Amino acid sequence: MTKPIIIDTDPGHDDAFALLMAMASTDDVEVIGVTTVAGNAQLDKITYNALRLRELVGRHEIPIYEGCARPMVNDLVTAEYVHGESGLDGPDLPEPTHGVESEHAVDYLVDTLRAASPRSITVCLIGPMTNMGMALVKAPDIAASIAEFVIMGGSFHAGGNITTTAEFNIYVDPHAAHVVLESGVPITIMPLDVTHQAQATPDRVAAFRALGEPVGNAVGAMLDFVERFDIALYGFEGFPLHDPTVIAYLIEPGIFTLRSGRVTVVTDSGATHGQTTADWHREPPNAQVALSLDSDRFYTLLVDRLSRY
Ligand code: BDR
Ligand code: CA
Repeated sequence: MTKPIIIDTDPGHDDAFALLMAMASTDDVEVIGVTTVAGNAQLDKITYNALRLRELVGRHEIPIYEGCARPMVNDLVTAEYVHGESGLDGPDLPEPTHGVESEHAVDYLVDTLRAASPRSITVCLIGPMTNMGMALVKAPDIAASIAEFVIMGGSFHAGGNITTTAEFNIYVDPHAAHVVLESGVPITIMPLDVTHQAQATPDRVAAFRALGEPVGNAVGAMLDFVERFDIALYGFEGFPLHDPTVIAYLIEPGIFTLRSGRVTVVTDSGATHGQTTADWHREPPNAQVALSLDSDRFYTLLVDRLSRY
């Protein structure tokens, strides 16, 4: 059965892969809406990137709603040092011919989820979780309509990518992450522990490029731009495609090994700001956490889906 999903995102190179993968996977998921949030870059650039990606594949029937320009409490931290000045440097993407919806993303989330049946809509959170956190603060009752949150965020054994302890999405808005984690909604998390196993090695980049126009060349140019950061920092073989693991989980959950735990986030400022911890033994679980994946199956699925364009 096709799952209705909302994707909350800050594109972002790996967000772009997630959006393109989801929009191509029409037998498995129906993208009913996309909401944008400040994260990898300032909000205006992020929303423009989402519009350019939709233009690339001509899916104008999928509405895009612009969301929060900054986190709930802290100042915004962006990641142009990874994703470039535009937030999505590298490819030459088409100018949008269609704009954003007039409704704010937080209101869209509240209105859509309020009108939905119990546990009917899956929400994919692949940027800082500000929009969803704000929606849950405004309307806690909407939690009942959410089938599952599938989140890219956090790190349990892999260390951080923005500080030694924190992963970027959680670091930017730990307060919103706290609201989401305490919502009572079923949660699956793709942390750095698993996404660092999903590196776009040179042969995988070649497989994307071989898909040609329009999408293969664009995603090839994205990877050419973005890989330098993780190769320099970690000695990786290529950029880890964090965010599309969320979409892959919805299509083929068997790719991942999961463990249930009680996940919490450090909201204080200081050295551990944005750190996630999981108690695997003592507390009742609030999430299942992916700790490993079959990276060949993941890339086979991703290339297959992008070949549909
Ligand atoms: C996450 O941070 C962003 O830079 C990526 O898009 C991904 O969502 C990885 O830590
Ligand atoms: Ca992201």
